[in-house]
Amino acid sequence: MPIPSALPRRQFLAGALIAAPALLTAGRSLAAADPFALGVASGEPLPDGFVLWTRIAPDPLAEDGLGGNASPVPVRWEVALDENFRRIAAHGEAMALPDRASAVHVEVSGLAPDRPYWYRFTALGVQSPVGRAWTAPAPGARVERLRMTAASCSHWELGYFAAYRHMAADEESRLTLFLGDYIYEDGPRTPPRPGAVRSYAMPEPTTLAQYRRRYALHRTDPDLRALHAATACVATWDDHEVQNDYSGIWPEDANVSPADFVKRRAAAYRAFCENMPVRISQVMRADGSFRLNRRFGWGSLAQFDVLDGRQFRSPPACIEGLASHRGHMASTACADLEDPSRTYLGFDQERWLYDGFARSKARWNLLVQNLLVAPLEIKTPSDTLIWTDTWNGFGAARRRLIDAMAETRLSNPVTLAGDYHSAWLNDLRRDFHKPQEAPVAAEIVVTSITSNGPPAGAMKAALPDNPHIRFFDAAHRGYTAIDLTPERLDVRCMAIADRADPRTTVSVLHQRQVEAGKPGFA
Ligand SMILES: [Fe+2]
Repeated sequence: MPIPSALPRRQFLAGALIAAPALLTAGRSLAAADPFALGVASGEPLPDGFVLWTRIAPDPLAEDGLGGNASPVPVRWEVALDENFRRIAAHGEAMALPDRASAVHVEVSGLAPDRPYWYRFTALGVQSPVGRAWTAPAPGARVERLRMTAASCSHWELGYFAAYRHMAADEESRLTLFLGDYIYEDGPRTPPRPGAVRSYAMPEPTTLAQYRRRYALHRTDPDLRALHAATACVATWDDHEVQNDYSGIWPEDANVSPADFVKRRAAAYRAFCENMPVRISQVMRADGSFRLNRRFGWGSLAQFDVLDGRQFRSPPACIEGLASHRGHMASTACADLEDPSRTYLGFDQERWLYDGFARSKARWNLLVQNLLVAPLEIKTPSDTLIWTDTWNGFGAARRRLIDAMAETRLSNPVTLAGDYHSAWLNDLRRDFHKPQEAPVAAEIVVTSITSNGPPAGAMKAALPDNPHIRFFDAAHRGYTAIDLTPERLDVRCMAIADRADPRTTVSVLHQRQVEAGKPGFA
């Protein structure tokens, strides 16, 4: 049963500028120079606070990537206990600096756990839209329920971001998870891509200015701004935040040197940090490095391990003799796949992750990451093939991951992924060729917000050979909603009716549960 698209929503989520005309400076035109045109956002919730984000960008798509602001701007921020800002819980002032493209990241602390707060900014005499964020429950606190939504793969040209609007309209959601491909680095095409509803109208980004413009373009979408205003988010990246199918320091194009690619990658990572509500001083290190993997909790209910599945990877698998280093179908006989010296997360991040497994006291343990973990083996008359760009190209690393879950007796592990533009629910086992064995974990792969689904025919034909895939759908765009309680995880694969219609409806495509203490889908 489709949910009407015109869901009632409180005004504070509408993303409309709330400005007191008396505060406007003389001659300032709101329509022409709204400094908050890119909206507001929050992220990284902790029991005592979160990160607030905005960017002073009166000309969001300015060619130089600076958003139409070249001087330092003082920005006042306020956090309130109520949506009318009668009871202020915290306030302060931050500087929007051109060196950061006028992005502001405020790390608010001293708040109370497990409750909503409302926030807003004031700069240049204009008040921003109001956003809302929940603090996490106190460490160890019993939590009866957590709802979150998860998304990936938002191709600007291939549809409107209506799925984001439906995520924003979910008043029960406390947390948004972005699993990668928040932007795409694609340039426009002539003729346009089949099904394109709008154009990038800017070249493929390779420089910091160009990546900054690409994030700004996405934030001109009102549905994405509404989602950021509605809930705090936690984001990881996949390949398209930088370049299709890159792996560590190795680019897709075999003719580009890692040394050159690393410069482009650093520009892309920096633009991500500037534009997402992350704890920027922890992600963007003083020595120029980036560290995205991090861990946070939700009372005794959940531990979240947010992974970086791109930066520290080994070279792409099975590329000997190939001119291109993009993902491809390779034989399962390829020696790279079981080579224990190859890593997906990097060995430092692996150690950090498995140490976190060993220490976790949470009922549910969720991995917030980018790519499919479960095998998808496609049998041909002469061979068995896998797609190398996912964990399928890192068989030995995948075995270490699942073995670590089993050996640390990790409580109710669940991995999340995006990338595949299709919805999957999978059981993860130590030996995928023994379907009679009990699963170690459940895997939820979320479909794309807009990006084209994969060719479903060959994949559907392969499902009988991959019995750990319990549900698969490539036909729909949308998002995933997850309800966690101490007793069970309830997942709903949500599908929009038409990505070309900005007012499209949403409905539940499939619903499934994992019972606590019984890893794998019921
Ligand atoms: Fe994607």
